[in-house]
Amino acid sequence: MTAPAALAHVQIELGERSYAIAIGAGLLADASAWESLPRAQAALIVSNTTVAPLYAQQLHDALRPHYPQIHQVVLPDGEEHKNWQTLNLIFDALLQHGCDRKTVLFALGGGVVGDMTGFAAASYMRGVPFVQVPTTLLAQVDSSVGGKTAINHPLGKNMVGAFYQPERVVCDLSTLNTLPARELSAGLGEIIKYGPIADMAFLDWIELHLGELRACDPSALAHAVKRSCEIKAWVVGQDERETGLRAILNFGHTFGHAIETGMGYGAWLHGEAVGCGMVMAAQLSQRLGGVDTAFVQRLTNLVNAAGLPVRAPVLDAADNAGRYLELMRVDKKSEGGEIRFVVLDGPGKALVRAAPDVMVREVIGACCA
Ligand code: NAD
Ligand code: GLY
Repeated sequence: MTAPAALAHVQIELGERSYAIAIGAGLLADASAWESLPRAQAALIVSNTTVAPLYAQQLHDALRPHYPQIHQVVLPDGEEHKNWQTLNLIFDALLQHGCDRKTVLFALGGGVVGDMTGFAAASYMRGVPFVQVPTTLLAQVDSSVGGKTAINHPLGKNMVGAFYQPERVVCDLSTLNTLPARELSAGLGEIIKYGPIADMAFLDWIELHLGELRACDPSALAHAVKRSCEIKAWVVGQDERETGLRAILNFGHTFGHAIETGMGYGAWLHGEAVGCGMVMAAQLSQRLGGVDTAFVQRLTNLVNAAGLPVRAPVLDAADNAGRYLELMRVDKKSEGGEIRFVVLDGPGKALVRAAPDVMVREVIGACCA
């Protein structure tokens, strides 16, 4: 199964903020992927120390016909740098280059670069256009789409940010060839997520094609990215600002964010924490009567086979469940101090609800290494 991945488009329908996601191999070098960009005197490529040496020149070449001036800022790499200090480097570059409010920002990298560039675009001169050029699997199937932008706070993940949609998303599948296997697995975590919350046929497909996905087969990746973006587009198109439905995209994230914050940003990859968090959320769903133990086992097996952890870390030897609960209270879904979880209400169907502390403690006890 190694047929070349043809160019595909997924449309995000958001009225005047609608945009297209282009998905295909070799798009950085394909002029057709860069037509009809927002017009401006200047573009700023935002990347990091790992991705810029690999792909910034190609992006620069693609943008040269469209912008008289192309600037670049290279951020430090890592989740631990997703903060105010690093965000400020983008503003420094914009101001030092005299960038006006038409300047277009291009986020070249994974979800960290994408989330920070989007937040910078939302706030520089109260809003400038930006384009997502995601280069990790996770960013191509999730973070580059839907307009959530943010930085972390030491007390909570993604706690400071804005909803701000890109003008376009360009997913060049060829960039995934340089992605380390651990990062590929992290992206698989977010792909798997779409099955239990919305599309059981997609879950069947992932189980069947997991080997090809882990081997970076172009056709398998193209299908997984496209189907993931379609599901995300369907959800975001109905609930852009997460007043309801969109929260289902956070399946596994309440536990996962607690793991990321509790372990220190960067120790567990976001996709790893989400993978393990989905196992925990499935266990909670089973205790709440939404799915049976066979389904929990099926999901656990798939997360494990994707190369992701299924046992959660101990965050506090003295009061582990208490520490998880404390961290999970700092969650955007919490209301009045009550933690709300995305749980399964049957395979392929998710909802948001609170759960008794005692039950959550049981899950943490059962899942921790
Ligand atoms: P990341 O951005 O840290 O990228 C992972 C690593 O891969 C980094 O070291 C990066 O430099 C490197 N890399 C990127 N592309 C590469 C390539 N083609 N070849 C080699 N190395 C490459 O992590 P991520 O998993 O992409 O994103 C995680 C972030 O996304 C988290 O901060 C998470 O909160 C956020 N996120 C946001 C949303 C959203 O809706 N906005 C959704 C999911 C996750
Ligand atoms: N990744 C969750 C969302 O975009 O809503």
